[in-house]
Amino acid sequence: MIKPLRKAVLPVAGLGTRFLPATKAMAKEMLPVVDKPLIQYAVEEARAAGIEQFCFVTGRGKTAIVEHFDIAFELEAVLRERGKMAELRALRDSQLPPGAVVTVRQQEPLGLGHAIWCARAFVGDDPFAILLPDDLVLSETPCTLQLANAYYQTGGCVVAVTEVPHAQTNRYGILDIGADDGKLVEVRGLVEKPKPEDAPSDLSIIGRYVLRPEVMTYLSRMERGAGNEVQLTDAMAKLIGQVPFHGLRYEGKRFDCGDKIGFLEAQIAFALKRADMGPAVRTFLQGYCKELFGAQG
Ligand code: G1P
Repeated sequence: MIKPLRKAVLPVAGLGTRFLPATKAMAKEMLPVVDKPLIQYAVEEARAAGIEQFCFVTGRGKTAIVEHFDIAFELEAVLRERGKMAELRALRDSQLPPGAVVTVRQQEPLGLGHAIWCARAFVGDDPFAILLPDDLVLSETPCTLQLANAYYQTGGCVVAVTEVPHAQTNRYGILDIGADDGKLVEVRGLVEKPKPEDAPSDLSIIGRYVLRPEVMTYLSRMERGAGNEVQLTDAMAKLIGQVPFHGLRYEGKRFDCGDKIGFLEAQIAFALKRADMGPAVRTFLQGYCKELFGAQG
């Protein structure tokens, strides 16, 4: 029997040094893309895939993330009084039901694998999704829902994958691939951040996973990998052969919001997609590009 997927772990303990000074006193996951913080995109995506329970792996200075999903009584009262119903709806949309959020602390930055291991009591014996909020995916079908569907089809682990330029394999977890139907790829091996000359393929993992709980057994060994960190990729690699393991070439476009350029691209892409502001942004971009680069630009 394939267990239902109801849990998600969201690691949010990172320091966000790439976005200083914006992140000096603010969690990087609270940076907005248009008008919604990154973390809310991840939570909404997970909910669209049937996730009901969330575990935020936090660290110092991250309390705003938990606050964000709470009920803001005072704010609601003021908005109601002033008849600002659209704003009130936006607030309500960012609430999670009572008991849907737990947090655990990752006291030391020992790597993504260590962060996930911190959620072991929450995960228990259940399958779980992982969403890295830095990775934002613009798609017709939410990326985690695509993974969940593949999980229900295979019953094993599924990771979202995409082709990256060969020179960039050292930034990602890379797949060694077996059977490949163009969408679902059998995973034969996984390597974290290999040099291009050592990379078994150009197919990289993005920050979306559905994993079986057995991965915790391997994480608990605390073996250090690339960058001397406890790597999730290494623990996942140990599951290959024990449980079905696939990569899913998801439909959609991924933005690396942990990077300034990626973050800016996401702002533009998400704004263009919005019915309320897309046309205005498009007019601005067209006019501005013409002004800067001329008619051919
Ligand atoms: C992490 C994972 C890596 C994955 C990447 C996706 O790396 O370790 O396997 O490809 O996320 O964003 P990080 O970006 O934390 O260095």
